[in-house]
Amino acid sequence: MERKLSLLLVICLLKGIAATKYDEFTYNGFQRSELYLDGIAEITPNGLLRLTNTTNDQQGHAFHKVPLHLKNTTDGNVYSFSTCFVFAILAEYPDVGGGWFALVLSPTRGLPGAMPKQYFGLFNSTNEGNSSNHVLAIELDTISNLEFGDIDSNHVGIDVNGLRSTDAAPASYFVEKIGKFKNLSLTSEELMQVWVDYSNPEKKLNVTISPISVPKPSRPLLSSSINLSSVILDTMYIGFSSSSGAILTFAYVLGWSFKMNGQAAALDLSSLPSLPLKKHRRKLTSLIIWLSLGVVVLIAITACGIAYIIRKKARYAEVLEEWELENRTHRFSYKELFKATEGFPEKNLLGVGGFGRVYKGKLPTSKTEIAVKRISHDSKQGMREFVGEIASNSQLRHRNVVQLLGYSRRKGEVLLVYEFMPNGSLDKFLYDANMPTTLSWSQRLKIIRGVTSGLLYLHEDWEQIVLHRDIKASNVLLDSEMNGKLGDFGLSRLYDHGSDPQITNVVGTFGYIAPELTKTGRATTSTDVFAFGVFILEVVCGRRPLMQQESLDLHLVDWVWRSWRNGVILEVTDARLGGDYHLGEVEMILKIGLLCSHPVPGARPTMRQVMQFLDGNLSLPQVPRGGRGITISSPEHAEELEES
Ligand SMILES: *[C@@H]1O[C@H](CO)[C@@H](O)[C@H](O)[C@H]1NC(C)=O
Ligand SMILES: *[C@@H]1O[C@H](CO)[C@@H](O)[C@H](O)[C@H]1NC(C)=O
Ligand SMILES: *[C@@H]1O[C@H](CO)[C@@H](O)[C@H](O)[C@H]1NC(C)=O
Ligand SMILES: *[C@@H]1O[C@H](CO)[C@@H](O)[C@H](O)[C@H]1NC(C)=O
Ligand SMILES: *[C@@H]1O[C@H](CO)[C@@H](O)[C@H](O)[C@H]1NC(C)=O
Ligand SMILES: *[C@@H]1O[C@H](CO)[C@@H](O)[C@H](O)[C@H]1NC(C)=O
Ligand SMILES: *[C@@H]1O[C@H](CO)[C@@H](O)[C@H](O)[C@H]1NC(C)=O
Ligand SMILES: *[C@@H]1O[C@H](CO)[C@@H](O)[C@H](O)[C@H]1NC(C)=O
Ligand SMILES: *[C@@H]1O[C@H](CO)[C@@H](O)[C@H](O)[C@H]1NC(C)=O
Ligand SMILES: *[C@@H]1O[C@H](CO)[C@@H](O)[C@H](O)[C@H]1NC(C)=O
Repeated sequence: MERKLSLLLVICLLKGIAATKYDEFTYNGFQRSELYLDGIAEITPNGLLRLTNTTNDQQGHAFHKVPLHLKNTTDGNVYSFSTCFVFAILAEYPDVGGGWFALVLSPTRGLPGAMPKQYFGLFNSTNEGNSSNHVLAIELDTISNLEFGDIDSNHVGIDVNGLRSTDAAPASYFVEKIGKFKNLSLTSEELMQVWVDYSNPEKKLNVTISPISVPKPSRPLLSSSINLSSVILDTMYIGFSSSSGAILTFAYVLGWSFKMNGQAAALDLSSLPSLPLKKHRRKLTSLIIWLSLGVVVLIAITACGIAYIIRKKARYAEVLEEWELENRTHRFSYKELFKATEGFPEKNLLGVGGFGRVYKGKLPTSKTEIAVKRISHDSKQGMREFVGEIASNSQLRHRNVVQLLGYSRRKGEVLLVYEFMPNGSLDKFLYDANMPTTLSWSQRLKIIRGVTSGLLYLHEDWEQIVLHRDIKASNVLLDSEMNGKLGDFGLSRLYDHGSDPQITNVVGTFGYIAPELTKTGRATTSTDVFAFGVFILEVVCGRRPLMQQESLDLHLVDWVWRSWRNGVILEVTDARLGGDYHLGEVEMILKIGLLCSHPVPGARPTMRQVMQFLDGNLSLPQVPRGGRGITISSPEHAEELEES
């Protein structure tokens, strides 16, 4: 007996937990949602719920999978509830926009037997208006259908069991300041937010709508006295319904929250998925004009026009895939870049790197100076990941990291758009004999500090670790004040993504590649630190990492070590400095360079420690002068190291 009771208690408790867990939900985007979809409804890769697309005579439903127990079974009262959602209706031809969709409470998950077109995927010709439906809908309707007594072609209505609204009003929202309702076009293609609140004690159903930029208006658009007790059954499902008819539209829901016996959580508007841009949809008026032109204008002229357009199109042709439409923030059109660079002429060529040619340009509208890197790339595979990475890398913002502004794509080619660096790359100053100026010690120190700070940001201060994987003087760019900025980070990933993950692919530049990287193929922050060490030695010595001395291949790091051991460390400094430098500083930088390019990864400092060495907040560890060798090229030195 006692056992039975306690079992009952446990069941009751579990039920209680289940109820509290499921009588509220919030979706900011539907990527990880528990929705039941049918018809043509689908969730796009970036988390939009698309109820209908432009396929004619279809319907789409999306219901929250878990049933709601909206009724108190003891006294038959319906609980208060509150829900809000963000939606947009995009038309194939914005000029004749139209569309319909509704928030629905229904006894079934999905609406079996429902018909599209004027029945909106809710009812059919036999059950429309029958009180045994137990369906409550809040409709957003842009079609004036006299069959169901619609008030106009842009209204919000409350429908109970049928399509003849019990209450409706032209779409509008209350503006407190002027004390009036302001009209709102449901087909404006703007994002709009809707709140539906039912209060059981008052038996009032309120519906409020506003553009997304406006917070919830103080007065609802509809405030309807309605007793839902006879409509709502013990178990109900909540969802959305839409259908496509003669007018081709996409109905999107971006976010949705619901709560029983309380206020639905506010949606996080900043984290909602983005809508596809309008650009790819057609304009009806231009279509009509185009068609009538075709009839009226002489065939010859039309042919000329077509030929011209084809030529122009071919000139600006770019590759644009469905998934790129979802996220176009960082996408430039090829035409825009073509114009910005005046068509990529030789005279605007800034340089030719390992990955491609870089051109100078100026964006036509904002007049921002840009550098455009054209990378030939045939692999379709991995492009999506790469572009995803571009999107995320363009959120990196640091004064010592070259800002990536966006990208564009053509067949076999990717174009990356960066902020323009007026003084070009550092290697020109170090190695180009034609350069009129040489870098002073203080300029070099400033550049090293800048690069340290930029790499520290990539490694530790951003939300995720970003490996540069190709640090070297030619990838450090200089702004107008000769500040060093890291460029080209993560570019090597382009080649990674396309390749077989089973085959390790060492990327980087010979001379800067850490010894363990050639063995494991795994890039880490520590392999970046190694390349950084080689880089700072390069800046102090004014020499490339792989040097020739007495007709022998010698690595810069070994050469500096040798001088360090022989006590003639200052001999390695760039002759062009003419001895004009701060002795203590040069020694510190050389020591940091040697520590960073240590062959044993564990012996290298982190970028944070390097920053602290530079700031003088952390004293440099002793770098042993005698005995201990270090090497990249010759194995006998490596053995010396292992002994100690
Ligand atoms: C609409 O969606 C359905 C189902 O996902 C698909 O079969 C159809 O091709 C789509 N139509 C258009 C015009 O995209
Ligand atoms: C869209 O861009 C953002 C960064 O702006 C990124 O976080 C997100 O993953 C991208 N979504 C897709 C589907 O590429
Ligand atoms: C259901 O109704 C009964 C009778 O009015 C009341 O005692 C009870 O508290 C209600 N339950 C809930 C969960 O509101
Ligand atoms: C209308 O829908 C009901 C189910 O809601 C179904 O039983 C009926 O057969 C449908 N009628 C028609 C004409 O499709
Ligand atoms: C409403 O539907 C029920 C069950 O489907 C049916 O028995 C009844 O005749 C319908 N009422 C009307 C007025 O069509
Ligand atoms: C708002 O729309 C309604 C219905 O379409 C119309 O009657 C009314 O004049 C409009 N009000 C304004 C201020 O445009
Ligand atoms: C509905 O609106 C009326 C009028 O503004 C208001 O008095 C009432 O509190 C509202 N009810 C709910 C549940 O929001
Ligand atoms: C609401 O409807 C239910 C069932 O039809 C009825 O029992 C109840 O008295 C009604 N409540 C009010 C306030 O009219
Ligand atoms: C760097 O660029 C600025 C602005 O373009 C220019 O004034 C300056 O002379 C350049 N510095 C060097 C060392 O070339
Ligand atoms: C490093 O030292 C400087 C002064 O020498 C001080 O301003 C700075 O806050 C210190 N930074 C850290 C991280 O301790």
